[in-house]
Amino acid sequence: MVYINKNYTNLTENYLFSEIARKISEYSARNPGTDIIKMGIGDVTLPLCDEAIRAMTRAVSEMGKAETFHGYGPEQGYDFLRQKIRSYYADRKIQLDEDEIFVSDGAKSDLGNILDIFGKENRVLIPDPVYPVYVDTNIMDGRSISFADADRENNFLPMPNENTHAELIYICSPNNPTGAVYSRSQLKSWVDFALQNGSVILFDAAYESFVSSPDLPRSIYEIEGAKYCAVEFCSLSKTAGFTGTRCGYTIVPKSLVFDKYRLNKLWLRRQTTKFNGVSYIVQRGAEAVFGETGQKQIKANIDYYRENAKLITSALDKLGIYYTGGKNSPYIWMECPDGMNSWQFFDCLLSGANVVGTPGSGFGKNGEGFFRLTAFSTNEKTAEAMERLSGLLA
Ligand code: MLT
Repeated sequence: MVYINKNYTNLTENYLFSEIARKISEYSARNPGTDIIKMGIGDVTLPLCDEAIRAMTRAVSEMGKAETFHGYGPEQGYDFLRQKIRSYYADRKIQLDEDEIFVSDGAKSDLGNILDIFGKENRVLIPDPVYPVYVDTNIMDGRSISFADADRENNFLPMPNENTHAELIYICSPNNPTGAVYSRSQLKSWVDFALQNGSVILFDAAYESFVSSPDLPRSIYEIEGAKYCAVEFCSLSKTAGFTGTRCGYTIVPKSLVFDKYRLNKLWLRRQTTKFNGVSYIVQRGAEAVFGETGQKQIKANIDYYRENAKLITSALDKLGIYYTGGKNSPYIWMECPDGMNSWQFFDCLLSGANVVGTPGSGFGKNGEGFFRLTAFSTNEKTAEAMERLSGLLA
């Protein structure tokens, strides 16, 4: 008799974005030839920047010659890339050691995998609404989850209070899905809470490069004390268009000690055992992104997406619809019109305008009645989608 992990039976039938993809294929099959504009999953549309392509092309040639061929690489990433990531943080006055940086295939994998090094008995605090991976991966492990309510009243930025009791605390800022960003003093309250209570903050910084206000923090390590309580996850998916190329990184400071164990050592042990590392070719591409020209090129791409965010927010302004996000984030979190619930609005927008977004309720109970649009489409399609949405709701 084989026993399965019964915790899986507590998950929803499908992962949120797979469910949306399924609904789109069904709709397309029923309505062949329909021009659907996808603003659901946060997938980028601009190609990789020239610098990354050049670097990867060179790396492909190297792989074809015995003298420059690369086999297994270091599981935690090549030094050349980790040095670049280190400088990226140093430019923001955050000093890291190279062995505190772990290159990975993206934030989603590491956010799920990091749970391997934490006991199942830890209590987990997850904001609601939020990126569904935090919830699903903890359900898979059978941990007890409580939620920090994010709503209009707290500007979708919940803070710790006397009822907050958790060892593992997830924070995503800029937030997916609401686009809300914690200020330095708000993040300081979370860091202080974690330090006082011996908790770990799992800080998802996947959208840091979209922060445009200089007074807003882009890394938790901008906050004093964070190196004693926080792990940071970041990704080149949205920053540099690596959604299909796959590269990210996780920062595990050596100062993180819990239950007498150094998290950095445990994570290294976990990664060297279970992770093969990111391919040499991709790491060369990622290295190029962190160079001077690469940075200029990816910033131009981010500005392009910011234009889309403006197109979306000005359409919503004209319609008088409440929303958050779009300024320091590629996501716009809008209230569903006419009292529709999230999935009703999803169906209405798909059938009435052939536009796809993500139902807010997929991100948690507080997301009900809200809807997320991404700024990652093309300028033309975003403008067209907003025309269709305005026509539908006018
Ligand atoms: C999203 O749309 O929330 C993200 O693209 C999903 C992800 O990064 O895995």
